[in-house]
Amino acid sequence: MQEFARPQSLLLQLALTSFVFLSFVNTGNAGITSTFIRSEWPSVDIPLDNEAFVVPKGYNAPQQVRITQGDYDGKAVIISWVTTDEPGPSKVQYGTSQKGYDLTAEGSTTSYTFYKYKSGYIHHCLIDGLQYDTKYNYKIGQGDSSREFWFQTPPKIHPDASYKFGIIGDLGQTYNSLSTLEHYMQSGGQTVLFVGDLSYADRYEYNDVGLRWDTWGQFVERSTAYQPWIWSAGNHEIEYMPYMGEVLPFKSYLHRYTTPYLASKSSNPLWYAIRRASAHIIVLSSYSPFVKYTPQWVWLYEEFKKVDREETPWLIVLMHVPIYNSNEAHYMEGESMRAEFESWFVHYKVDVVFAGHVHAYERSYRISNIHYNVTSGERYPVPDKSAPVYITVGDGGNQEGLAGRFIDPQPNYSAFREASYGHSTLEIKNRTHAFYHWNRNDDGKKVATDSFILHNQYWGSNMRRRKLKKHYLRSVVDPITNY
Ligand SMILES: [Fe+2]
Repeated sequence: MQEFARPQSLLLQLALTSFVFLSFVNTGNAGITSTFIRSEWPSVDIPLDNEAFVVPKGYNAPQQVRITQGDYDGKAVIISWVTTDEPGPSKVQYGTSQKGYDLTAEGSTTSYTFYKYKSGYIHHCLIDGLQYDTKYNYKIGQGDSSREFWFQTPPKIHPDASYKFGIIGDLGQTYNSLSTLEHYMQSGGQTVLFVGDLSYADRYEYNDVGLRWDTWGQFVERSTAYQPWIWSAGNHEIEYMPYMGEVLPFKSYLHRYTTPYLASKSSNPLWYAIRRASAHIIVLSSYSPFVKYTPQWVWLYEEFKKVDREETPWLIVLMHVPIYNSNEAHYMEGESMRAEFESWFVHYKVDVVFAGHVHAYERSYRISNIHYNVTSGERYPVPDKSAPVYITVGDGGNQEGLAGRFIDPQPNYSAFREASYGHSTLEIKNRTHAFYHWNRNDDGKKVATDSFILHNQYWGSNMRRRKLKKHYLRSVVDPITNY
């Protein structure tokens, strides 16, 4: 809420910029295909001996430290790390005081093999019963090798709780990945919504697969040790490699990355939901069964019924494969999930769907194709005010490079698309408004990137807005935008 105290000129500037984009919604004009392509750095993985992957000194020092939300409502975190010399304790010391740690939690240790690679000792420790909106310091490891970090819990679940999410996808471990990560860390984002394809370790063979999971864990630690990353899995997490004797899908990923799936009554860590501040976030698995009556389908059917927009106005869905994509890369791959779930997204008025997979950026207008019918001839996406905005952020910067070829002409549903590296932020201001921004990696060239003001799909309706107290309506942007 404090952000509204900024000079109004800035806000107006943003509003006017948004209005340019939003005007397309009303006129039905085609969107923008940016011609900008960033090409300074090749998409090669950072060498193993680079300082980006340097592990902490000391016997059995914890490495690859990361946290994620540990419960449904944001009062718990799961802290994970790896030790390599011996298992060591899975204990976390934590507290709110600067002077010491008055609380402890015990976790557990796991490990796995992949071909002949033997993982380190992977620790997962749940810390629950935390206070909202509080900074916690924590310490892991033993003696001289122990390490200290901190995190901030989210505000209490409340419809007007402001919060800033970052959205990153298909990150990998190249110099472009590093640039994306560093730019995100300057954005003020408080939690990352990660839309799949983490390390790209599966681009390697034999023991290097495990090694590149380790380097990635160390690479992202600069952010993941201090704020939660909300994980979803992509195709690069499957690692189905029968020629190496590895046929168990998601083996490395599921040992290394945990999710609070039980808290949302999910039966599988690959799909789950959390609530954080004023957002209800649903994570789907593009590479698990989702047709009618499968566990994921049944779970989502129930989860949507639990969404309470009076408590958490912002309904966000994460998945790896985009449902609307006008890039030649991975064209139509999301069609099966669209056929299954799009009508629910419209019915429940999902605000925004974030995906990755396509190594470019694209944003849709609010459109749906729920009347598609193979016998009636209805087969085009049409403007639909109840539909989500679909955003593809598969541009983290992995070694596969950019997906530079968009289908021409740009379809009517596509509002903005550009093949360059970056990340997004969604800054929720209150129950009615959020600022969205796509941030291309900074390269010294001043070219417009994509931004707009998102009106909440539930509270944005005139009828509900009328019910709100007057002070909610004093936003300078309110009369201008209608997205
Ligand atoms: Fe992918």
